[in-house]
Amino acid sequence: MEDVWVYILSASSFLILLFLFKLQRSSKRNLPPAPPSLPIIGHLLLVKEPVQRTLQSLSDRYGPVFSLSFGSRPVVIVSSPSAAEECFTKNDVVLANRPCMLAGEIMLYSNTTISTAPYGPHWRNLRRLTTLEILAPHCLASSLTVRQEEVRLLVRSLYEVASSARDSGCARVEMRSRLQEMSFSIIMRMISGKRYFGAAADAGDAKVARQFREVINEIFELSGTDPGDFLPVLRKVVDLKGRERRMVDVAKRSDVILQGMIDELRSRRKRSDGDRKVESKMMIDYMLSEGYSDDIIKGHILTILCAGTDTSAVTIEWTMSLLLNHPNIMQKAQAELDDIVGRDCLVDEADIHKLPYLQNIINEALRLFPPAPLLVPHESAKDCMIGGFDVPRGTMILVNAWAIQRDPKVWDDPTSFKPERYEGLKEDHAYRLLPFGMGRRSCPGVGLANRVVGLTLAALIQCFEWERVSEEPVDLSEGTGMTMPKREPLEAMCKARECMIANVCARL
Ligand code: HEM
Repeated sequence: MEDVWVYILSASSFLILLFLFKLQRSSKRNLPPAPPSLPIIGHLLLVKEPVQRTLQSLSDRYGPVFSLSFGSRPVVIVSSPSAAEECFTKNDVVLANRPCMLAGEIMLYSNTTISTAPYGPHWRNLRRLTTLEILAPHCLASSLTVRQEEVRLLVRSLYEVASSARDSGCARVEMRSRLQEMSFSIIMRMISGKRYFGAAADAGDAKVARQFREVINEIFELSGTDPGDFLPVLRKVVDLKGRERRMVDVAKRSDVILQGMIDELRSRRKRSDGDRKVESKMMIDYMLSEGYSDDIIKGHILTILCAGTDTSAVTIEWTMSLLLNHPNIMQKAQAELDDIVGRDCLVDEADIHKLPYLQNIINEALRLFPPAPLLVPHESAKDCMIGGFDVPRGTMILVNAWAIQRDPKVWDDPTSFKPERYEGLKEDHAYRLLPFGMGRRSCPGVGLANRVVGLTLAALIQCFEWERVSEEPVDLSEGTGMTMPKREPLEAMCKARECMIANVCARL
């Protein structure tokens, strides 16, 4: 009995000493300001959807660098260009880690993927493979036909729907699912060399593609903020809302599909010739020939699909919505296309860099509606300073790109859609406009995204007249989700332009 008391007393003394030590350390530190918080859960109840808006109003009160506690996890939120610049220049290496999340642990191969792996040799290796091979300009050049074909198929399907509309040649079309399917097909073909949707796909492949899309949607849904990530003690007691069980189930289903893709390609390689050189630079093919393990390849496919599909589709959907609300800007973009590309042929990827007004439109859409409004969370590997405040090791860093890009101190008339604001500007917009992030963990898919988004928008604007489905402006409210989708999927009235029918639309 005496032993028990000795044990209890020494454990309590230890805890009290630890508490005092922590208190003394934190009182010496100049931590970023924070709102009052509750014990154990910290500020979790304060963080309401849409998170970027909540964090913006908190930064109005607590400043451009402030801190929160998500349960036991310290978080620092950065909402000014100068603080973001500090993060991605002098602190770039220290902040190149990612916080370890349950979703990545269970669904993304124990956080071994390029987007979730901690900063270190394994991440560097995957990053080099991605930027110097898979998404490098020479590889993007070899997959040019994939993108042009998929955009042509999108235009053709819209033309068919519009031209079969009685009398008017004008049809009401739902854009989100079309854009998601196109974007998914482009990336799947670049990964595996195979078309999973449409006439060229067999029924089995189409089924796999549909299952895969479902799995990806579930991964997105389950990757949002999970209380279990911030209250690990609670997680051990209850599986909050059965999330962990669902994650395990989704991980199993996605693994079966991904393994099937790898096995199919492996046997295709064997059948054709064991020793042949990799003639097609498809991603799986390339990774197999470089000797990567199946788990690393599966994680990479999943990451590229998750990171690359919805981001591009959502950007096109937001841009089209903005253009429908600003028909004069749509007309100006059409005039630029007529002038540079003409009306006798469909716009080509090589034309995109000759269309500065279109590029300004895309920049402006990404400024107002960045698909990753808080970028992707970073984590400090060591103590560091941001904006004159101490940021301890192990702090999660959220850069509120959405708030920076709408800050009236940074942009004139920040909530208006004005592509002209970039005209004649010599300065670059780094740290004011950062939809792809900055520094070593910034988006490696920016080149592909610019090509897909630019080419698709150019083709849609060149070939069709677009109108809203009613007098009302298109609703621009944000929904919830990882890639900040529009709350309502975009619907629009679509009609082939007379001048484009004979030479382009009817020949696709
Ligand atoms: C409009 C389209 C896109 C936007 C706005 C976007 C934005 C971003 C952002 C903000 C990050 C995080 C940066 C940070 O942590 O600071 C990121 C990371 C990433 N993106 Fe993109 N992205 C887009 C398209 C793509 C595409 C097409 C791909 C690939 C096919 C891709 C692959 C990735 C990967 C692999 C990462 C993780 C990088 C790492 O952790 O090292 N993204 N993206």
